[in-house]
Amino acid sequence: MRWLEHETFFFHHARGEGQRQRIVGRQRGYHGVGFGGLSAAGMGPHKKQFSMLLPGAVHLPHTHDPARNALSLGQPRHGAELADALEQMIATYDASTIAAVIVEPVAGSTGVLVPPVGYLEQLRDLCSRHGILLIFDEVVTGFGRLGRPFAADRFGVIPDLLMVAKGMTNGAVPMGGVIASSVIYNTVTGKAASGAVELSHGYTYSGDPLAAAAGLASLDVYVSEGLFERAARLEPHWQTCAHSLKSLPGVVDIRNLGLLAGIELGGDPVSGKAMARKVYEHCFEHGVLVRPVANTIVLSPPLTIGENEVETIFATIEAALKAD
Ligand SMILES: Cc1ncc(COP(=O)(O)O)c(C=O)c1O
Repeated sequence: MRWLEHETFFFHHARGEGQRQRIVGRQRGYHGVGFGGLSAAGMGPHKKQFSMLLPGAVHLPHTHDPARNALSLGQPRHGAELADALEQMIATYDASTIAAVIVEPVAGSTGVLVPPVGYLEQLRDLCSRHGILLIFDEVVTGFGRLGRPFAADRFGVIPDLLMVAKGMTNGAVPMGGVIASSVIYNTVTGKAASGAVELSHGYTYSGDPLAAAAGLASLDVYVSEGLFERAARLEPHWQTCAHSLKSLPGVVDIRNLGLLAGIELGGDPVSGKAMARKVYEHCFEHGVLVRPVANTIVLSPPLTIGENEVETIFATIEAALKAD
């Protein structure tokens, strides 16, 4: 996924701040397995095969705080102050060395971590005050997953760069993209050597016509079938059904927002992982596909799902948790 080279580094270079090279990611973040993404990501097991990734990447703490926030309905109340870690990094490294902060607004692959109320606003504020770009990786949250086009709309926090993929083509054909603010676009294109490609995106598969057609068709369906609104309408039912599992054996936390949910299992990571695997297998045998991520069952259904199907998913998980 392209977000580092032109959009971030060239932007700073073009405005005379090329020394801004440091990327701030977040623990438990996931941004794919390219060098930029792996460097910014905070998933230890993915990184340990590499002794050195991009130098200078540093990481904010993750926002998972079950002691204060377990079983929150939607956004948890506690933890906005975790964004203050960025202030400490600025004090340590100086803002003039920091290019960008990249986060998933709701962290998906790590087990659905919903941002605490006020947290993203605080990151936005700090980035704006210090000339640091804020990047939202909306590969999971984009295109209606949270009942709005993007998480940026849902939270009312506008990043400088926004990464998209998956829902862009409904996953039917591979396509990803980076949406840049007009400030970045104008700065980069204004400084590009005359005759040069503006935002450089000359990959072999850039602008693939099949993917572009799938993307346009997906956008049409999102609008004509009102799928983002549908996700928003279904969210309360989704939330109620998800949280109906809270007293079942082994359930330690349930997190949800939009049509996303994470059900964390087990008292410790090892037993939780084994339980998640067992739930996955039971569900699979009963026709329901769930995703076990370490000790958490991650759910991210198609936006076309109906109320009955929502009930089936959670009833099947309930049966799995009750099964010996
Ligand atoms: C939040 C997030 N960012 C990035 C990616 C990776 O995208 P790609 O595999 O296209 O690099 C994923 C994949 O699941 C993801 O969940």
